[in-house]
Amino acid sequence: MDGTVALVTGAAGGLGSAVASGLAREGAVVVVVGRSTTRAEEAMEGIRRLVPDALLEPLVCDLSVQSSIHTAAADFLSRHDRLDVLVNAAGVFRKQRQVTSDGLELTFATNVMAYFLLTNLLLDALKYAATTGGNAVTAKGPAASLRVSRIVNIASRYGNAKLNFDDLQTANGTYSYLRSTPPTMLARVLLTQEFAERLRGSGVVANAVHPGLVKNTSLLMDVGGPFRWITNTFGAPAGKAADTPIWLATSLETAGVSGQLWAKRKELPTPGMGSDPEARKRLWDACAHLAGMS
Ligand SMILES: NC(=O)c1ccc[n+]([C@@H]2O[C@H](COP(=O)([O-])OP(=O)(O)OC[C@H]3O[C@@H](n4cnc5c(N)ncnc54)[C@H](OP(=O)(O)O)[C@@H]3O)[C@@H](O)[C@H]2O)c1
Repeated sequence: MDGTVALVTGAAGGLGSAVASGLAREGAVVVVVGRSTTRAEEAMEGIRRLVPDALLEPLVCDLSVQSSIHTAAADFLSRHDRLDVLVNAAGVFRKQRQVTSDGLELTFATNVMAYFLLTNLLLDALKYAATTGGNAVTAKGPAASLRVSRIVNIASRYGNAKLNFDDLQTANGTYSYLRSTPPTMLARVLLTQEFAERLRGSGVVANAVHPGLVKNTSLLMDVGGPFRWITNTFGAPAGKAADTPIWLATSLETAGVSGQLWAKRKELPTPGMGSDPEARKRLWDACAHLAGMS
C-alpha cells in the first residue's frame, strides 16, 4: 500500500489500533484519529511498538460532536487530497443515557452519526484516490485495471434489532444499552449498504464487518458484568479480529465487492431490517437531517 493514505477512527482502541497497525505494516500512511491530542499520540505510540517504521499522522476529533467532525475532516483535507482507505471503528457502549452537545444520544451520535458524517465529508478524497490508482498500484494480472478506494465500517451482527424511527435517540421509556446499542449496529450495516449504492461506479466500495467478540478492549468497561466477562473470556484478541477488516481494506480479492456484511472473510446475511431498502433510505434521510445536510 505504499503511496496510499488510510484513516482509522477508534485507533486508540483495541480493534481500531489493530487495524491501523495492519495498514501501517502494509506501508500506508495511516491517519490515526483520537478524541484528543493525548489519545492520538498514545494510539500512535501503541502502533509504533508493533510497527516501528509505521508512517503515522495524528488527527484529533471528538466523533460525538458534529463540529469536531467538520474540523477534523477539514484538517485532513488540508493535508491530503486522497484517501484510499477509511476505516470507521470508533464506538461506545454506555450503561447510562448521555446527551451530546448536539442534543443527540451519545451512542447514536458516535456509532451512527459519526460514520455518516465523517464518511460524507471525505467522499471526494475517496473518489479522487479511486481515479488516481491507490490500491491499484500494486495490482497485477486481470485486477491491474481495478482502481478502488475502500470504506470499511466496523459493525456487528445485530440479532433481532430494529430501528425505531420515532425514537432514534432512545429518549422514550427507560434507557438501557440493550435498547440503544444493537440498533446502532444495524444502522451501520444500513449506512454501508446505502453508501455502496450511492457510490456504485465511482471506484469506491463500502463494506461492513462483524468482528465477533473482541476481548480485552475498553468497549465494555462502562457496562462491566457478565457481558464483559463473556467477551473477555470467549472473545478473540483484537489482532485476530482485525484480519477481516484489513482483508477488506487491502486485498485484490475484495476490491470489487461492496455493500456486504462480512465475518471471518465470509459474507453474512443481513436479515430483517438489514434487507429493507426503505429502512436504509429512511435512516439516511434521518442522518442527513440531523447533520444539517438536507
Ligand atoms: N469488542 C467487541 O466485542 C465488539 C463487538 C462488535 C463490534 N465492536 C465494535 O468494534 C469497534 C471497536 O471496539 P473496541 O472493542 O476496540 O472498543 P474500544 O477499545 O473501546 O475502542 C473504541 C474506540 O473508539 C474511540 N471513541 C469512542 N468515542 C469516541 C469519540 N467521541 N471520539 C473519538 N473517538 C472515540 C475510543 O476512544 P477512547 O479510548 O479515547 O474513548 C476508542 O479508541 C466499535 O465500533 C464497536 O462497536 C466491538
